[in-house]
Amino acid sequence: MPTEFISLTFNNASTELKPIPGAAIDPEYLKRYARSLDDYAFNYTLVPYGSSSFDPFTIGATIASVTKNLKVIIALRPNTLYPTVAAKALATLDQLSSGRAVVHFIAGGSDAEQAKEGDFLDKDQRYARLEEYIRILRRAWESPEPFDWEGKYYQFKQFSNDVRPVNGTIPVSVGGSSDEAYRIGGSLADIFGLWGEPLKETKQQIDRIYAESDKAGRSEKDRPRIWVTFRPIIAETDDLAWAKAHKTLDALTTHRANGLGKAPANAPAPQNVGSQRLLDIASRGEVQDRALWYPTVTATNARGASTALVGSYQTIIDSILDYVDLGAELISIRGYDNFNDAVDYGRYILPGVREVLESRASN
Ligand SMILES: Cc1cc2nc3c(=O)[nH]c(=O)nc-3n(C[C@H](O)[C@H](O)[C@H](O)COP(=O)(O)O)c2cc1C
Repeated sequence: MPTEFISLTFNNASTELKPIPGAAIDPEYLKRYARSLDDYAFNYTLVPYGSSSFDPFTIGATIASVTKNLKVIIALRPNTLYPTVAAKALATLDQLSSGRAVVHFIAGGSDAEQAKEGDFLDKDQRYARLEEYIRILRRAWESPEPFDWEGKYYQFKQFSNDVRPVNGTIPVSVGGSSDEAYRIGGSLADIFGLWGEPLKETKQQIDRIYAESDKAGRSEKDRPRIWVTFRPIIAETDDLAWAKAHKTLDALTTHRANGLGKAPANAPAPQNVGSQRLLDIASRGEVQDRALWYPTVTATNARGASTALVGSYQTIIDSILDYVDLGAELISIRGYDNFNDAVDYGRYILPGVREVLESRASN
């Protein structure tokens, strides 16, 4: 499988550098951003989910309608949609986009966040429900016959689905760093999403996922593809990139102190293991490996993907190749100056990485 690139969807001009509190969707911005990802040959865009954020399905359909190749990854929390409804919604998007729908499952990392939409299960139960949910979706996409379901979290009778994915099924991604995330993702997912950790820790996580995949009886070829996520801060030279990185950090710190950050200034320690891991690594030093930078993690309380990669175009290309060599096939990169960074990556990073991979393949 080739190395592919993922970005994140942005609905308007608000960024972490220049937040616009309460900004509505700017349809023209959304479409321009999505078309640019397509034009610069990104392969996927993730439409994220939060309890107070926009509906990913209508955003995903809008993106699909203005792009040709870009695949749309819908972030989905099982508590928000009955599984048969989700199976049809995803298959509807898949048909509308001629087979470009992907789903990224989130068990839910914070009890308080889950409670906002009526979900009071603990994290282990949320993972158990996720496992059942994925099995139902696959069955709903693939079953030629109506079927009953008698599970712990869902029960229904004679569900019959007329809305089929274009290619028979839809790629399923799982994200998280709990033991249960590795087990469920390793045994059931096509893709496993990770946040940016140093090479050593990333390798440890990949080994855990592969071990779970093997334990579930999957062949080596059938293991989940690994997705890693970074927030590159790039410029023509390393020095210029570091100057930009420090300005970025200043902006994040100031906005958080003024209540405009992604996490409140007095936010408690995060409950999800993925963020705890990032904060733990951040406490060990600012820079890891070639260019992985952690102060952006601490400044945002590790709210979401937050590890930066700082350096010249070449430094970032080399850093990404380090992860490709480790086994990552899906590289998610988004910056802090959302639109301009996506264009810069499209001009300098994606072609640079692809050129090296092509020349390796032809030798
Ligand atoms: C690549 C990636 C993307 C994610 N996207 C979202 C998202 O859109 N919304 C969300 O609430 N959590 C998102 N998460 C967070 C985790 O899925 C979440 O914290 C998980 O449910 C529990 O994490 P844990 O197993 O590390 O404790 C994402 C995680 C990863 C690795």
